[in-house]
Amino acid sequence: MWSNKSHMLFLCSLTVHLALNEMANIGVLLYEFYVAVIFIFWNFDKALTAVIQTQQTVLAAVGEDAEFSCQLLETKDVVQVTWQKVSHDVETNVATYNKYFGQRVNDGFTEKFKFKHTELQNCSIVIRNVTEQDEGCYHCLFNTYPEGSLIGRPCLQVYELHEPVVDVRESNSTEEWVVSCSATGRPAPTVTLSVSQQDLSFSQYNTVSVSNTNATFTVTTTAVLSGSRSNSTQVGCAARVLSAPHREVMETIPEVQEEYDDDDDYDDGRILVILSSVLLLLLLACFTTLIFVWPKKKSQSRNQNTFSQMR
Ligand SMILES: *[C@@H]1O[C@H](CO)[C@@H](O)[C@H](O)[C@H]1NC(C)=O
Ligand SMILES: *[C@@H]1O[C@H](CO)[C@@H](O)[C@H](O)[C@H]1NC(C)=O
Ligand SMILES: *[C@@H]1O[C@H](CO)[C@@H](O)[C@H](O)[C@H]1NC(C)=O
Ligand SMILES: *[C@@H]1O[C@H](CO)[C@@H](O)[C@H](O)[C@H]1NC(C)=O
Ligand SMILES: *[C@@H]1O[C@H](CO)[C@@H](O)[C@H](O)[C@H]1NC(C)=O
Repeated sequence: MWSNKSHMLFLCSLTVHLALNEMANIGVLLYEFYVAVIFIFWNFDKALTAVIQTQQTVLAAVGEDAEFSCQLLETKDVVQVTWQKVSHDVETNVATYNKYFGQRVNDGFTEKFKFKHTELQNCSIVIRNVTEQDEGCYHCLFNTYPEGSLIGRPCLQVYELHEPVVDVRESNSTEEWVVSCSATGRPAPTVTLSVSQQDLSFSQYNTVSVSNTNATFTVTTTAVLSGSRSNSTQVGCAARVLSAPHREVMETIPEVQEEYDDDDDYDDGRILVILSSVLLLLLLACFTTLIFVWPKKKSQSRNQNTFSQMR
């Protein structure tokens, strides 16, 4: 629309210019006046959209709240601020903030929209619990007197990003692991693997993207990690969509089951058996002492007692 207009303006000026060229000085003056008028209108038209400050695109995750705010940068007599949702080039009034009647969210939108900041020069609205259906562009109209409507056009982009899932497996050869990471999102997320230890490296990258029924994509990246690891090596997986905050998980490479580990277990077991045997023997010894030695001593002392009584 714009380019058409400028094009036409250009052709008009050219025609006028050519025609006027035939004439004398007065003609040139006329031409300059004509250009000046065009220039003024042109700028005025541009200014209509430039006086409103709003977000070009608001990014929100499914389930989050999104906020649009429109601010009229020039002081004007605003009668009402109207918020509209635009879908398929059809504008639907969603909510209004009126100088005299205050705020009103229209029927069918009360669950979804809520005013946040209500001022005739500076108005903001919250879209609650966003879903894919809320994606698109919106209008904030400052209905002014006498200029008419000034329009701001913020847009909402909805994304979805679930926490990635990492899996680390030992591969056939020692000092190699197969790391795979899966992330689901909309639009398709990018999945990046990382490792905490510098001398380990990934190779044989392979990425597969599967589209789900609900317009999300599950992206799985698999790679082989090789090198000699230290005890607490971690692999990380980050998933990103658009410019939203990324989601990252870390996973520690599982302990390698080496042979001496088994020996250790075996030794431990043997020690346990020996220890319990010793304990058992000690207990037995105690019992024997108690059963055979104690009664003898007792009877001895009893004998002594009787003896002393007899005396
Ligand atoms: C406009 O409203 C926003 C909240 O939506 C607020 O942060 C900002 O300070 C306001 N600006 C003015 C000039 O009142
Ligand atoms: C958000 O919207 C979804 C789908 O419409 C719904 O299932 C969920 O209960 C809503 N959550 C809240 C907190 O309203
Ligand atoms: C592991 O060994 C099996 C069979 O011996 C083979 O099919 C597979 O490709 C090997 N995997 C790797 C990562 O070397
Ligand atoms: C979309 O599908 C994926 C995989 O089937 C699932 O993990 C995700 O929760 C779904 N998203 C929504 C909003 O239902
Ligand atoms: C690995 O762990 C063992 C004990 O489990 C420790 O003796 C050794 O120093 C650790 N090595 C490194 C590089 O941290």
